[in-house]
Amino acid sequence: MTDAAGGAEFTPRVFSGIQPSGNLHLGNYLGALKRFVEAQNNGIESIYCMVDLHAITVWQDPADLRNATRELAAGFIAAGLEPQKSILFNQSQVAEHTQLAWIFNCVARMGWMQRMTQWKDKAGKNQQNASLGLFAYPSLMAADILVYHATHVPVGEDQKQHLELTRDIAIKFNHDYGVEFFPITEPVIEGAATRVMSLRDGEKKMSKSDTSDASRINMTDDADTIARKIRKAKTDPDALPSEAKGLDDRPEARNLVNIYAALSEQSVAAVLHELGGKQFSGFKPMLADLAVAKLAPISSEMARLMQDKAEIDRILQDGAARARAIATPILDRTYDIVGMVR
Ligand code: TYM
Repeated sequence: MTDAAGGAEFTPRVFSGIQPSGNLHLGNYLGALKRFVEAQNNGIESIYCMVDLHAITVWQDPADLRNATRELAAGFIAAGLEPQKSILFNQSQVAEHTQLAWIFNCVARMGWMQRMTQWKDKAGKNQQNASLGLFAYPSLMAADILVYHATHVPVGEDQKQHLELTRDIAIKFNHDYGVEFFPITEPVIEGAATRVMSLRDGEKKMSKSDTSDASRINMTDDADTIARKIRKAKTDPDALPSEAKGLDDRPEARNLVNIYAALSEQSVAAVLHELGGKQFSGFKPMLADLAVAKLAPISSEMARLMQDKAEIDRILQDGAARARAIATPILDRTYDIVGMVR
């Protein structure tokens, strides 16, 4: 495969990560996890990571972090990732990520980091008090990807800017050292649900940090909770349109239709062709039934897997050893390029 810059050949390899902070929600599932499973099932070598080092860029209670890491691993497996086929591990077990991140800290520019919207959103007006790790976050993310020479990264829309920065870091490293060593990674942002919105406000992203639990569907919610949250989701008084154009300026309606399309694996056009003209009073119960049918088996499997934490830890350890076997030679070559004596 030739990268976008017309450079060296790289074998296709998928990498992506999710933070083990707070609950896994429907946005993570539709925007990321479900698509990880599709990549795995297409036979592409896939590496998936619980990014615990990214999670601590904001304070995490240690016991909660341990639990969230294992629960996220259980979520990956319950959603269909097979630890024999894909590599599943937590970031802190493969030190090469942070070693490469340091080198990238010396490649990336302050201005690049300052432009990141997620930094601006998360640090807010209190930048002086935010952690240095939160500022350098995208450089570790670039290292996560490039330490495997990953070529494709499935993510939701909100990670697009970080992936552009990953490309900038690869391009600058290759240029500064006169090599074609790091691939220019392709973001893979596809499907009807690359940006699932809050159920309470169609202009806001569904997020684990939203203070309102009613704004999101958690992967651990039971059937009644899922149905209640969908019933109470904000909508407008109009019926569903029969074409996607009719969703312009109707963010809440668009969000629910996108969710329905992604869960039922249909296009938005196909959904509206079938359901155009329906009132929300009829559509919401259909959406709730569909969500319960798709999510309940995942949440009950997560609960089952969480009963054997030693087995989860064993899977993560095994994944980490396989990840390290790919990362170590790439980091060694990076050190040679940079001029480190070893
Ligand atoms: P995180 O943990 O915030 O989210 C994990 C994945 O879920 C997607 N996502 C969404 N997709 C659609 N709608 C939403 N409302 C929604 N909310 C979250 C995210 O886009 C993401 O794909 N920085 C990353 C983690 C990371 C990473 C990486 C990702 C660290 N290193 C390397 C890819 C490659 C993050 O905080 O994702």
